[in-house]
Amino acid sequence: MSFDNRLLKKIRREFPGVAADPAGRKRAFLDNGAGTLVTRRSALAEAVTRINWSANVGNYFPESKGAGETILEGRKAVSDFLRADGPETVISGESCTSLLFMLSYALSRNFKGEENVVTTGYEHYANINPWAELGGMGLITELRFSKFDLDTGLLDIEDMKRLVDKNTKVVTVAAASNVLGTRTDLQEVGKIAKEAGALFVVDAVHHVAHAPTDVKRMGCDALVFSGYKLFSRHGSYMYLTPELIERLHPYKVDPSPKHGPEKWELGTRDQAMFGAIRGALDYLVWLSDPKAKACPKPGPQRSARMRVAMEKIETYEKELSRIVLDGYGKQVGLRYIPGLTLYGPHEVTPGIGRDPTFAFKLSGYDDHQLSKLLWDNYAIAVGAEDYYSRVPAQYKAKTMTRATFVHYNTIDEALHLLKALNELASKQR
Ligand SMILES: Cc1ncc(COP(=O)(O)O)c(C=O)c1O
Repeated sequence: MSFDNRLLKKIRREFPGVAADPAGRKRAFLDNGAGTLVTRRSALAEAVTRINWSANVGNYFPESKGAGETILEGRKAVSDFLRADGPETVISGESCTSLLFMLSYALSRNFKGEENVVTTGYEHYANINPWAELGGMGLITELRFSKFDLDTGLLDIEDMKRLVDKNTKVVTVAAASNVLGTRTDLQEVGKIAKEAGALFVVDAVHHVAHAPTDVKRMGCDALVFSGYKLFSRHGSYMYLTPELIERLHPYKVDPSPKHGPEKWELGTRDQAMFGAIRGALDYLVWLSDPKAKACPKPGPQRSARMRVAMEKIETYEKELSRIVLDGYGKQVGLRYIPGLTLYGPHEVTPGIGRDPTFAFKLSGYDDHQLSKLLWDNYAIAVGAEDYYSRVPAQYKAKTMTRATFVHYNTIDEALHLLKALNELASKQR
């Protein structure tokens, strides 16, 4: 196990809301897929930015200079986190949904109506409608969905190979399904895209909190993620290759910059979101080596520290996933609870792994009833909805119950969930 108890306690102290809700009720927060809790460092950095650097950029007084510096430092931190080409490749936006719309519209200016786009069968609609809209406007022939196996939750790579052809201009995939927890083999999909001469776009919104992200290793042309799924606040980021940043023409107003990430940013930037994400990423630097005194300067050393933190997180979450799936001690795991249908991988997928996201249904309960019972009787926060995903419909379901763990969750919380589900299952027998 990569975190011993002392480290886990320290980690939990970094998250003010981790043990109890605002009313003081102790609870297990397992709705992280909808948005993680915020780290103290991010909230404080946001507050400092709001109070000290509230002016608009581009002027000579300290509030304005501070705003500009905060934005630049935020971009540098995101670039280090993604192992990108530098701050000038990091674009900010209101949400990943809006950034993907920006990207699809900018790309489609060069389409002739003969092109197609390929994606997976388990996407969030944020990575569907931006491309489907192009079909509605006659700018692409179709948006093609690659199948996934309904039993294992894994992407059918052979099907994706069949769907990609010489007219495929974009292959755009979730790094992990926000419902099933399935991870996409990004190396493999990236290869398919490149061989066809298509752009490779990655929606990392769900996956970003669970493993290192390395845009160079993936060979992607664009990648999006959101601060509120990475221990920060709302506001999202898109990596684009330097070549695409300059070559494409996003919608913009005339006076705004013609080059660099600012060309892509609609209206005034929000310096507080940059302050906040820097705070969250400083937390990762701390986590990589809690005894280290100083935070390294922006650049490869800091990037390596962030990677170490994400590797530790991934190792710990793998153990958590195994416990949730297989059970531990007296607690029967999700795979074996009678009456419980688990969707997605039933094991930590060899090689690519899986995110600690578990969607299920328990016979005898509808999802809303189940999530309310888990909250009211067991103080466990989980989701019950469609998660804006294509997944539930493919299992002929409107909703699913979902528990999503992140690294600040404990084994006790995992066992508490299993105990609760085992008890509720036994009431139906
Ligand atoms: C995989 C995935 N993509 C996209 C989104 C949407 O992100 P945003 O709210 O930043 O638009 C989500 C949100 O849950 C998601 O899980």
